[in-house]
Amino acid sequence: MAILLTGGTGFIGSHTAVELINAKQDVVIADDLSNSKAEIVDKIEQITGKRPAFRQLDVTDKAGLDAMFNEFQIEGVIHFAGFKAVGESVAKPIEYYRNNLDSMLSVLEVMRAHQCRKLIFSSSATVYGANSESPFKETAPTGNCTNPYGWTKYMIEQILFGVAQADPDMSIVLLRYFNPIGAHESGLIGERPNGIPNNLLPYLTQTVIGIRDHLSVFGNDYPTHDGTGVRDFIHVVDLAKGHVAAFDYARKHTGAEVFNLGTGIGYSVLDVIKAFEQANGVKVKYQFCPRRPGDIATCYSDPSKAKELLHWQAEKNLVDMCRDAWRWQQNC
Ligand code: UD1
Repeated sequence: MAILLTGGTGFIGSHTAVELINAKQDVVIADDLSNSKAEIVDKIEQITGKRPAFRQLDVTDKAGLDAMFNEFQIEGVIHFAGFKAVGESVAKPIEYYRNNLDSMLSVLEVMRAHQCRKLIFSSSATVYGANSESPFKETAPTGNCTNPYGWTKYMIEQILFGVAQADPDMSIVLLRYFNPIGAHESGLIGERPNGIPNNLLPYLTQTVIGIRDHLSVFGNDYPTHDGTGVRDFIHVVDLAKGHVAAFDYARKHTGAEVFNLGTGIGYSVLDVIKAFEQANGVKVKYQFCPRRPGDIATCYSDPSKAKELLHWQAEKNLVDMCRDAWRWQQNC
Protein backbone atom coordinates (compact mmCIF):
# COMPACT_ATOMS: atom_id res chain seq x y z
CA MET A 1 0.00 0.00 0.00
CA ALA A 2 1.12 3.55 -0.66
CA ILE A 3 1.30 6.77 1.31
CA LEU A 4 -0.24 9.74 -0.50
CA LEU A 5 1.65 13.04 -0.17
CA THR A 6 -0.45 16.06 -1.09
CA GLY A 7 1.92 18.89 -1.94
CA GLY A 8 4.61 16.25 -2.31
CA THR A 9 6.80 18.24 -4.73
CA GLY A 10 7.10 21.20 -2.32
CA PHE A 11 10.00 21.93 0.04
CA ILE A 12 9.03 19.69 2.97
CA GLY A 13 6.97 17.26 0.84
CA SER A 14 9.85 16.42 -1.50
CA HIS A 15 12.28 15.77 1.37
CA THR A 16 9.65 13.61 3.06
CA ALA A 17 9.12 11.63 -0.16
CA VAL A 18 12.86 10.88 -0.18
CA GLU A 19 12.92 9.74 3.44
CA LEU A 20 9.80 7.58 3.04
CA ILE A 21 11.26 5.89 -0.04
CA ASN A 22 14.55 5.38 1.84
CA ALA A 23 12.45 3.70 4.54
CA LYS A 24 11.04 1.30 1.87
CA GLN A 25 7.59 2.91 1.71
CA ASP A 26 5.59 3.32 -1.49
CA VAL A 27 4.92 6.99 -2.22
CA VAL A 28 2.28 8.60 -4.41
CA ILE A 29 2.34 12.36 -4.94
CA ALA A 30 -0.51 14.76 -5.74
CA ASP A 31 0.56 18.35 -6.39
CA ASP A 32 -0.89 21.10 -8.58
CA LEU A 33 2.63 22.49 -9.22
CA SER A 34 1.43 26.00 -8.30
CA ASN A 35 4.57 26.49 -6.20
CA SER A 36 6.89 23.70 -7.41
CA LYS A 37 8.05 21.95 -10.56
CA ALA A 38 7.41 18.51 -12.08
CA GLU A 39 11.19 17.98 -12.35
CA ILE A 40 11.27 17.49 -8.56
CA VAL A 41 9.92 13.99 -9.24
CA ASP A 42 13.05 13.31 -11.36
CA LYS A 43 15.25 14.59 -8.53
CA ILE A 44 13.51 12.35 -6.00
CA GLU A 45 14.17 9.44 -8.34
CA GLN A 46 17.80 10.51 -8.77
CA ILE A 47 18.34 10.57 -5.01
CA THR A 48 16.48 7.38 -4.09
CA GLY A 49 16.68 5.27 -7.26
CA LYS A 50 12.90 4.92 -7.15
CA ARG A 51 10.33 7.05 -8.93
CA PRO A 52 7.21 7.93 -6.93
CA ALA A 53 3.91 7.95 -8.82
CA PHE A 54 2.91 11.55 -9.54
CA ARG A 55 -0.39 13.14 -10.56
CA GLN A 56 -0.75 16.85 -11.22
CA LEU A 57 -3.80 17.65 -9.15
CA ASP A 58 -5.26 20.40 -7.00
CA VAL A 59 -6.61 18.41 -4.06
CA THR A 60 -9.68 20.61 -3.77
CA ASP A 61 -10.68 18.70 -6.96
CA LYS A 62 -12.50 15.90 -5.17
CA ALA A 63 -13.27 13.93 -8.33
CA GLY A 64 -9.57 13.93 -9.25
CA LEU A 65 -8.59 12.90 -5.74
CA ASP A 66 -11.22 10.18 -5.74
CA ALA A 67 -9.75 8.85 -9.00
CA MET A 68 -6.33 8.66 -7.32
CA PHE A 69 -7.78 6.68 -4.44
CA ASN A 70 -9.34 4.31 -7.02
CA GLU A 71 -6.07 4.00 -8.93
CA PHE A 72 -3.76 3.40 -5.96
CA GLN A 73 -4.12 1.45 -2.73
CA ILE A 74 -3.68 4.33 -0.30
CA GLU A 75 -2.93 3.44 3.29
CA GLY A 76 -2.80 7.01 4.56
CA VAL A 77 -2.22 10.63 3.65
CA ILE A 78 0.41 13.21 4.60
CA HIS A 79 -1.25 16.52 3.84
CA PHE A 80 1.30 19.22 2.93
CA ALA A 81 -0.68 21.03 0.23
CA GLY A 82 -1.58 24.59 1.12
CA PHE A 83 -0.73 28.25 0.76
CA LYS A 84 2.08 29.20 3.15
CA ALA A 85 3.24 32.79 2.65
CA VAL A 86 2.50 34.70 5.83
CA GLY A 87 2.58 38.19 4.30
CA GLU A 88 0.45 37.16 1.33
CA SER A 89 -2.13 35.65 3.70
CA VAL A 90 -2.63 39.09 5.28
CA ALA A 91 -3.31 40.59 1.83
CA LYS A 92 -5.44 37.65 0.59
CA PRO A 93 -7.28 36.21 3.59
CA ILE A 94 -10.25 34.89 1.59
CA GLU A 95 -7.96 32.93 -0.76
CA TYR A 96 -6.02 31.51 2.19
CA TYR A 97 -9.06 30.41 4.18
CA ARG A 98 -10.77 29.02 1.07
CA ASN A 99 -7.78 27.09 -0.23
CA ASN A 100 -6.30 25.75 2.99
CA LEU A 101 -9.58 24.74 4.62
CA ASP A 102 -11.10 23.45 1.38
CA SER A 103 -8.11 21.26 0.55
CA MET A 104 -8.11 19.72 4.02
CA LEU A 105 -11.88 19.10 3.97
CA SER A 106 -11.69 17.61 0.48
CA VAL A 107 -8.94 15.23 1.56
CA LEU A 108 -10.97 14.22 4.64
CA GLU A 109 -14.13 13.58 2.62
CA VAL A 110 -12.35 11.46 0.03
CA MET A 111 -10.46 9.58 2.76
CA ARG A 112 -13.76 8.81 4.48
CA ALA A 113 -15.34 7.61 1.24
CA HIS A 114 -12.43 5.16 0.83
CA GLN A 115 -12.19 4.22 4.51
CA CYS A 116 -8.67 5.56 4.68
CA ARG A 117 -7.97 6.45 8.30
CA LYS A 118 -4.36 7.52 8.72
CA LEU A 119 -3.54 11.19 8.36
CA ILE A 120 -0.49 13.31 9.12
CA PHE A 121 -1.02 17.08 9.01
CA SER A 122 1.59 19.84 8.58
CA SER A 123 0.84 22.26 11.36
CA SER A 124 3.10 25.01 12.60
CA ALA A 125 4.56 26.47 15.78
CA THR A 126 2.72 29.60 14.71
CA VAL A 127 -0.42 28.15 16.42
CA TYR A 128 1.17 28.88 19.82
CA GLY A 129 0.74 32.58 19.09
CA ALA A 130 2.29 35.03 21.51
CA ASN A 131 0.47 33.62 24.51
CA SER A 132 3.14 31.62 26.23
CA GLU A 133 6.87 31.28 26.74
CA SER A 134 9.49 29.11 25.08
CA PRO A 135 10.23 26.28 25.25
CA PHE A 136 6.76 25.48 23.91
CA LYS A 137 5.27 22.18 25.01
CA GLU A 138 2.39 20.69 23.02
CA THR A 139 0.11 21.53 25.96
CA ALA A 140 0.82 25.29 25.71
CA PRO A 141 -2.22 27.42 24.80
CA THR A 142 -2.88 27.88 21.09
CA GLY A 143 -4.76 30.53 19.10
CA ASN A 144 -4.13 34.27 19.14
CA CYS A 145 -2.44 33.85 15.73
CA THR A 146 -1.06 36.97 14.07
CA ASN A 147 -2.08 36.25 10.45
CA PRO A 148 -4.62 34.27 8.34
CA TYR A 149 -1.99 31.64 7.42
CA GLY A 150 -1.54 30.86 11.12
CA TRP A 151 -5.31 30.83 11.67
CA THR A 152 -5.78 28.26 8.89
CA LYS A 153 -3.33 25.97 10.72
CA TYR A 154 -5.17 26.57 13.99
CA MET A 155 -8.60 25.98 12.41
CA ILE A 156 -7.51 22.79 10.68
CA GLU A 157 -6.16 21.50 14.00
CA GLN A 158 -9.63 22.07 15.53
CA ILE A 159 -11.29 20.31 12.57
CA LEU A 160 -8.98 17.31 12.99
CA PHE A 161 -9.63 17.02 16.73
CA GLY A 162 -13.35 16.89 15.89
CA VAL A 163 -12.85 14.28 13.17
CA ALA A 164 -10.83 12.04 15.49
CA GLN A 165 -13.52 12.36 18.15
CA ALA A 166 -16.29 11.44 15.72
CA ASP A 167 -14.49 8.40 14.33
CA PRO A 168 -12.54 6.47 16.97
CA ASP A 169 -10.79 4.43 14.26
CA MET A 170 -9.04 7.48 12.83
CA SER A 171 -5.29 7.92 13.44
CA ILE A 172 -4.32 11.57 13.09
CA VAL A 173 -0.92 13.07 13.86
CA LEU A 174 -0.52 16.85 13.89
CA LEU A 175 3.07 17.97 13.48
CA ARG A 176 3.92 21.49 14.62
CA TYR A 177 6.99 22.51 12.66
CA PHE A 178 9.37 25.10 14.03
CA ASN A 179 11.71 26.76 11.44
CA PRO A 180 12.67 24.27 8.71
CA ILE A 181 15.79 25.28 6.76
CA GLY A 182 18.62 23.59 4.86
CA ALA A 183 18.26 21.24 1.93
CA HIS A 184 19.04 17.67 0.94
CA GLU A 185 22.81 17.11 1.09
CA SER A 186 22.81 15.99 -2.56
CA GLY A 187 22.01 19.60 -3.51
CA LEU A 188 19.24 18.28 -5.79
CA ILE A 189 16.19 19.45 -3.84
CA GLY A 190 15.61 22.45 -1.57
CA GLU A 191 13.43 25.49 -0.97
CA ARG A 192 12.52 27.58 -4.00
CA PRO A 193 10.62 30.65 -2.81
CA ASN A 194 8.49 32.60 -5.26
CA GLY A 195 9.64 36.23 -5.60
CA ILE A 196 11.33 38.03 -2.72
CA PRO A 197 11.78 35.59 0.18
CA ASN A 198 10.16 36.38 3.51
CA ASN A 199 12.05 33.82 5.53
CA LEU A 200 15.53 34.30 6.91
CA LEU A 201 17.54 31.57 5.21
CA PRO A 202 16.37 32.00 1.61
CA TYR A 203 16.91 35.74 1.94
CA LEU A 204 20.36 35.20 3.41
CA THR A 205 21.50 32.74 0.71
CA GLN A 206 20.14 35.02 -2.05
CA THR A 207 22.11 37.90 -0.52
CA VAL A 208 25.36 35.95 -0.44
CA ILE A 209 24.93 34.83 -4.06
CA GLY A 210 24.26 38.43 -5.10
CA ILE A 211 20.52 38.39 -5.96
CA ARG A 212 19.80 40.69 -2.98
CA ASP A 213 21.97 43.59 -1.87
CA HIS A 214 21.93 42.93 1.87
CA LEU A 215 20.05 41.08 4.55
CA SER A 216 17.86 43.19 6.85
CA VAL A 217 18.06 41.95 10.42
CA PHE A 218 14.66 42.76 11.89
CA GLY A 219 15.32 44.13 15.37
CA ASN A 220 18.41 44.12 17.60
CA ASP A 221 16.65 45.25 20.74
CA TYR A 222 14.86 42.02 21.70
CA PRO A 223 15.40 40.60 25.20
CA THR A 224 17.67 37.84 23.81
CA HIS A 225 21.41 37.12 24.26
CA ASP A 226 22.42 39.44 21.39
CA GLY A 227 19.21 41.44 20.84
CA THR A 228 18.14 39.61 17.65
CA GLY A 229 15.20 37.19 17.35
CA VAL A 230 15.71 33.60 18.50
CA ARG A 231 14.20 30.63 16.62
CA ASP A 232 14.33 26.84 16.59
CA PHE A 233 15.89 26.15 13.19
CA ILE A 234 15.57 22.51 12.14
CA HIS A 235 17.17 20.77 9.16
CA VAL A 236 14.48 19.83 6.63
CA VAL A 237 15.88 16.28 6.37
CA ASP A 238 15.42 15.81 10.14
CA LEU A 239 11.91 17.22 9.78
CA ALA A 240 11.21 14.78 6.91
CA LYS A 241 12.37 11.86 9.06
CA GLY A 242 9.90 13.05 11.70
CA HIS A 243 7.11 12.30 9.21
CA VAL A 244 8.34 8.75 8.70
CA ALA A 245 8.23 8.28 12.48
CA ALA A 246 4.81 9.93 12.67
CA PHE A 247 3.33 7.63 10.02
CA ASP A 248 4.69 4.64 11.89
CA TYR A 249 3.03 6.01 15.03
CA ALA A 250 -0.28 6.39 13.16
CA ARG A 251 -0.09 2.71 12.22
CA LYS A 252 -0.03 1.76 15.89
CA HIS A 253 -2.35 4.29 17.55
CA THR A 254 -5.79 5.80 17.02
CA GLY A 255 -6.96 9.27 18.04
CA ALA A 256 -5.38 12.64 17.37
CA GLU A 257 -1.93 13.37 18.76
CA VAL A 258 0.14 16.57 18.49
CA PHE A 259 3.94 16.66 18.28
CA ASN A 260 6.44 19.49 18.05
CA LEU A 261 9.13 18.94 15.45
CA GLY A 262 12.05 21.10 16.50
CA THR A 263 15.55 20.74 17.91
CA GLY A 264 14.80 22.36 21.26
CA ILE A 265 17.69 24.79 20.68
CA GLY A 266 17.17 28.49 20.06
CA TYR A 267 19.61 30.33 17.80
CA SER A 268 19.50 34.06 17.13
CA VAL A 269 19.57 35.69 13.71
CA LEU A 270 23.18 36.77 14.41
CA ASP A 271 24.09 33.21 15.47
CA VAL A 272 22.79 32.01 12.09
CA ILE A 273 24.74 34.66 10.18
CA LYS A 274 27.97 33.73 12.00
CA ALA A 275 27.43 30.00 11.55
CA PHE A 276 26.71 30.53 7.84
CA GLU A 277 29.89 32.56 7.39
CA GLN A 278 32.02 29.97 9.21
CA ALA A 279 30.44 26.93 7.54
CA ASN A 280 30.83 28.30 4.03
CA GLY A 281 33.78 30.70 4.20
CA VAL A 282 31.67 33.63 2.93
CA LYS A 283 30.63 37.07 4.23
CA VAL A 284 26.97 37.97 4.81
CA LYS A 285 26.24 41.66 4.21
CA TYR A 286 23.57 42.74 6.71
CA GLN A 287 22.04 45.81 8.33
CA PHE A 288 20.00 46.19 11.48
CA CYS A 289 16.44 47.39 10.80
CA PRO A 290 13.35 47.94 12.95
CA ARG A 291 11.44 44.92 14.25
CA ARG A 292 9.09 43.19 11.81
CA PRO A 293 5.45 43.50 12.95
CA GLY A 294 4.07 40.23 14.30
CA ASP A 295 7.47 38.75 15.26
CA ILE A 296 8.10 37.51 18.76
CA ALA A 297 11.49 37.64 20.52
CA THR A 298 11.97 33.95 21.16
CA CYS A 299 10.37 30.79 19.82
CA TYR A 300 11.76 27.31 20.39
CA SER A 301 10.33 23.90 21.10
CA ASP A 302 10.34 21.35 23.82
CA PRO A 303 10.78 18.31 21.54
CA SER A 304 10.71 15.70 24.33
CA LYS A 305 7.27 14.29 23.46
CA ALA A 306 8.42 13.37 19.93
CA LYS A 307 11.54 11.79 21.36
CA GLU A 308 9.57 9.71 23.82
CA LEU A 309 6.63 8.61 21.65
CA LEU A 310 7.90 8.87 18.05
CA HIS A 311 11.45 7.78 18.96
CA TRP A 312 12.62 10.67 16.81
CA GLN A 313 14.97 13.54 17.43
CA ALA A 314 16.78 16.02 15.23
CA GLU A 315 20.36 14.97 14.47
CA LYS A 316 21.76 17.72 12.28
CA ASN A 317 23.27 20.92 13.64
CA LEU A 318 23.26 24.55 12.54
CA VAL A 319 26.48 24.13 10.52
CA ASP A 320 24.88 21.24 8.55
CA MET A 321 21.83 23.43 7.88
CA CYS A 322 23.96 26.37 6.67
CA ARG A 323 26.24 24.21 4.53
CA ASP A 324 23.34 22.39 2.84
CA ALA A 325 21.34 25.61 2.30
CA TRP A 326 24.35 27.17 0.56
CA ARG A 327 25.02 24.11 -1.62
CA TRP A 328 21.40 24.19 -2.75
CA GLN A 329 21.47 27.94 -3.47
CA GLN A 330 24.54 27.46 -5.67
CA ASN A 331 22.84 24.62 -7.60
CA CYS A 332 19.33 25.95 -8.03
C1 UD1 B 1 7.57 32.45 9.85
C2 UD1 B 1 6.10 32.45 10.19
C3 UD1 B 1 5.65 31.04 10.50
C4 UD1 B 1 6.03 30.10 9.38
C5 UD1 B 1 7.55 30.17 9.18
C6 UD1 B 1 8.04 29.27 8.06
C7 UD1 B 1 5.47 34.61 11.20
C8 UD1 B 1 5.03 35.31 12.44
N1 UD1 B 1 5.77 33.32 11.32
O1 UD1 B 1 8.29 32.16 11.05
O2 UD1 B 1 4.25 31.05 10.64
O3 UD1 B 1 5.63 28.78 9.73
O4 UD1 B 1 7.89 31.51 8.87
O5 UD1 B 1 7.53 29.69 6.83
O6 UD1 B 1 5.56 35.19 10.15
N2 UD1 B 1 14.44 37.74 9.86
C9 UD1 B 1 15.31 38.77 9.58
N3 UD1 B 1 15.45 39.17 8.28
C10 UD1 B 1 14.75 38.59 7.26
C11 UD1 B 1 13.87 37.52 7.55
C12 UD1 B 1 13.73 37.12 8.86
O7 UD1 B 1 15.95 39.31 10.49
O8 UD1 B 1 14.92 39.03 6.10
C13 UD1 B 1 14.31 37.26 11.25
C14 UD1 B 1 12.90 37.36 11.80
O9 UD1 B 1 12.67 38.62 12.36
C15 UD1 B 1 12.90 36.22 12.83
C16 UD1 B 1 13.85 35.18 12.22
O10 UD1 B 1 14.65 35.90 11.28
O11 UD1 B 1 13.46 36.66 14.05
C17 UD1 B 1 13.13 34.06 11.50
O12 UD1 B 1 12.21 34.63 10.56
P1 UD1 B 1 11.46 33.75 9.44
O13 UD1 B 1 12.45 32.91 8.73
O14 UD1 B 1 10.62 34.67 8.62
O15 UD1 B 1 10.55 32.76 10.28
P2 UD1 B 1 9.48 33.07 11.45
O16 UD1 B 1 9.04 34.48 11.40
O17 UD1 B 1 10.02 32.55 12.73
